[in-house]
Amino acid sequence: MPDFLKHRFLSETLGVRKRGNNPLENLSRRMQISEFDVIIVGAGAAGMMCAMSAGQRGKRVLLIEHAKEPGKKIIISGGGRCNFTNINAAPENFLSENRHFCKSALARYTQHDFIDLIKKHRIAFHEKTLGQLFCDGSARQVVQMLFEECLAVDVDLSLNCSVQGISKSDRYRVETNQGDFFSTALVLASGGLSIPKMGATGFAHDVAQQFDLPLTEIRPALVPLTFSDADLDLMTPLSGLAFESEVTCRKGKFREALLMTHRGLSGPAILQISSYWREGDQININMLPGTDAQTHLLQRKTDRAKAETKTILSEVLPSRFAAALTEDLPKRPIGELSDKLLRDIGTRLNKWQVTPAGDEGYAKAEVTLGGVDTNALSSKTMEAKTVPGLFVIGEAVDVTGWLGGYNFQWAWSSGWAAGQSV
Ligand code: FDA
Repeated sequence: MPDFLKHRFLSETLGVRKRGNNPLENLSRRMQISEFDVIIVGAGAAGMMCAMSAGQRGKRVLLIEHAKEPGKKIIISGGGRCNFTNINAAPENFLSENRHFCKSALARYTQHDFIDLIKKHRIAFHEKTLGQLFCDGSARQVVQMLFEECLAVDVDLSLNCSVQGISKSDRYRVETNQGDFFSTALVLASGGLSIPKMGATGFAHDVAQQFDLPLTEIRPALVPLTFSDADLDLMTPLSGLAFESEVTCRKGKFREALLMTHRGLSGPAILQISSYWREGDQININMLPGTDAQTHLLQRKTDRAKAETKTILSEVLPSRFAAALTEDLPKRPIGELSDKLLRDIGTRLNKWQVTPAGDEGYAKAEVTLGGVDTNALSSKTMEAKTVPGLFVIGEAVDVTGWLGGYNFQWAWSSGWAAGQSV
């Protein structure tokens, strides 16, 4: 049995032991408990952190999850190793219609607080690149850690639990397939729309709207971009090719790997820029960041006059790509090409301009850009300004991080902030 499941089994046994010796009697007693201080819908990153944070304050917490296990996105994240935070996480790494909103929560529960928690649970980790911290082993360790923290403070976790309705009078009433539950605070932690196959729903957005909280524009982000057939003629044969590039669009600028795919462009640089891109926008790709390609080619014309342009480009780009880029050039050594032609090639290398046709949608998006409008929420507590006791956290809020551990940090920070206030 995998470690994670062993712990789940163990924790359930512990839960039963606390309540008595007859498991059935315990189960029904457990089901009779319907009053809580706080009900959190969604046992993902933000929901589990919020449950832990509230539980540590002595609150009676019910964590509702419609899937059969908590933290499914954590488990698949970071290629199974969970890029759980970024050492450099700062408000500048987040997109939102109100770029100041994330500051308070990020300052109150920082990446260092989460790293301390990881260390407390002796989870080995490493920095991969650009401050991104990954588990050395399985991402399941992070779920297990949060689960154990929740268990330590007696959080009740209802799995396979689907919410059928929510209403509010003097307290919140949450109707589910496992009965009705009541609470003084309700936290929407059900995430965004990305990866519907994994159970992503628009639940938080719908409930927010039920309580008249506005939403911002919602769209897939950190998502591969797609292209017209004309652009694909170049990209498709190069599918699988990756190289460092600097990609810019609107206010976004990222220097990371770019990947050619049979559907268009992907890789970290493209995923990052997709959060800034809008239909009709051109993106600029510098395929030789840090190198003035014109100067480089003219220099080579002098000092390697007999070499083919393809060979010269292969020194700085993958050779398959160099071959494709020089396919239409006269088959002559670089020394015989005009300065004008070399300047044109240089410009194209430093500023390849392409207009994506679209993106691969929620099925491939790592996150949902936009969400519950931050104007409707307190940045300190995540509570709705006009609906006392209603909180929204994590990806459901209009705060979206860059690729690189930032989205989980937002989930931890916003979840912790709400947990301190419910
Ligand atoms: P999250 O989606 O984690 O949790 C929401 C929970 O609510 C889920 O358990 C869901 O089943 C449940 N739920 C939904 N609707 C419900 C309903 N109606 N009733 C009950 N429960 C409901 N980020 C990062 O920082 N580093 C990384 O390495 C990665 N990697 C990554 C890989 C892939 C493939 C994806 C898709 C995403 C990432 N991310 C990431 C993004 C990261 O996973 C995401 O930002 C956080 O999980 C958001 O946390 P939340 O708790 O808000 O939502």
